[in-house]
Order: sequence, then C-alpha cells, then structure tokens
Amino acid sequence: MAAAYERLKKCYDSIQDKVSVRPKVALVLGSGLGDYADGIRIVSTLDYHEISGFPVSTVSGHKGRFVFGYVEEVPVVIMQGRVHYYEGYSMEDVVLPIRLMKMMGAKILFLTNAAGGVNYNFHAGDFMMITDQISDFVPSPLIGPNIEELGERFPDMSHIYDPDLCQLLREVAHEQGILLQEGTYLQLTGPNFESPREVRMCRILGADAVGMSTACEAVAANHMKMKICGISCISNLGSGMTEQPLSHSEVKETADQVAPRFKKLITEAIIRMP
Ligand code: HPA
Repeated sequence: MAAAYERLKKCYDSIQDKVSVRPKVALVLGSGLGDYADGIRIVSTLDYHEISGFPVSTVSGHKGRFVFGYVEEVPVVIMQGRVHYYEGYSMEDVVLPIRLMKMMGAKILFLTNAAGGVNYNFHAGDFMMITDQISDFVPSPLIGPNIEELGERFPDMSHIYDPDLCQLLREVAHEQGILLQEGTYLQLTGPNFESPREVRMCRILGADAVGMSTACEAVAANHMKMKICGISCISNLGSGMTEQPLSHSEVKETADQVAPRFKKLITEAIIRMP
C-alpha cells in the first residue's frame, strides 16, 4: 500500500465517527465565498485542526473546517477554506481533503474559487464556469507511487469537468438570469499576483482565468473518477489589464458583492444534481 494511502486511511479512520452525513456532493468554497456554508442546514462541523495530520490553511479570511449538512434534501460536505500550495504544503497535503471527501462517499465535486480574469471579455464580478484547465505550472498531485486504491497510473483528462454538470450549470444560470461566462482556468503557484506579461502569457496559452488553487484538486478528483464542476468568481481582471493594483482585500470585496447570486446558483445546481 502506498504511504500516501496509509496516511489518508488513518486520517479518515480518525474522523469517521464525526462524519454525520454521507455526502453526495463535496463543495469547496473559495476566497470570500465561505459564508455559503453558514446558510445551509448544518448537521455538524469539524475543524481542520482537530484532524490529526491534516493541513491547516493559514490565509486570513479562510476558515478551516468541514461542514456536514443538507442543501434542501441533498447531503453535502463543504470545505469552508482550502489549503494552498503556496502555503508551503506538499501537493499530497493540498489534495488530501479532496481525497477524504471521496472516502466519505461524495461522488460529485463542486469547486469554486476567486480568480483573475485574463479574457478581455470578462469583468470583475462575473462568474466563469470552468470547462477545462491548465495545471502544468504546479506539480501534479499524482507524482509519486500511484495510489492504486484511488485510481489508475495514467488517468485520462479529456473531460475533467463533467459535460452533464456543465450543462446543468448553464441551464440554472440561464433560468436565474445570471451571466455565466465559460472558459479555461490556469493555476499558478502564487502567492504573488502575476506580472502583466505573465497575464499575457496565460492568455496566449489559452486561459481565461488565473488562480492559485483548484486545478490540482480537479486532477486528484478526476484520478478518483469523481464527477467535477467548477465556477470561478472573477474577482478582478489580471494585472496590466486595468490601472488598478491588485490586493487580496479587493478579491474578497468582489466575492462578497456577488455572494447572493452565487449562493442562488450553487444551491439550485446542487438540488438538481443527478
Ligand atoms: N491572480 C491569481 N489569483 C487570483 C487573482 C489573480 O488576479 N484574483 C484572485 N485570485
């Protein structure tokens, strides 16, 4: 058994009796979007620091806990705060929570984040459904001995974001009169924001949004054959696209502003998930 799997199992065994619902959907909440978890029917919560061997986020404004509960009748586990590669954790640590949520029973992974727009058609405050991604600027979380219990050595990545879930998101957004942009998410390590030339590089490579999370999580989840969908909240345009310097508080402010629309969209999408 791979050491990473042994560690994962140990971690899971240590929290098994605290997992109060068997989740169907695992939801990861990005910067500024964490409040969503406070509005669902919560059954229990589990702080990351209570879990032995669990990576704990150090970013201010990122809560660190699992929330177990229901969105209407749908059992969910929500990550209120994620861990990032730029905090110094290994990729194995970064994706451990995703793997744990799969072990809890989640078949669907709904990823959200705040991201910088690099597509000139985007505006701060837009939502972008992630239809594909570029993760090559960070190490793959699958490097190392393959965890056979989770998935195969060379997993296919043709459809990381499930086409049916994408269609569902399109329909819900349309019904709610929400403009849902679509595009490719590119992950860089951060924690620094990009230079203007780096933003241009992202665009030339085919990205529409850039961020510091998510893509590695999607790789790990796709390895386990979870069905994945994702939405980026475009909190700002990339550097060099406007005169404004970027700041984490701007990212959080924009996310706060769009939170009500965002909540409506993800709630309805989760309720209708197959
Ligand atoms: N770049 C990278 N990550 C981000 C940005 C950005 O402009 N905005 C929010 N997360």
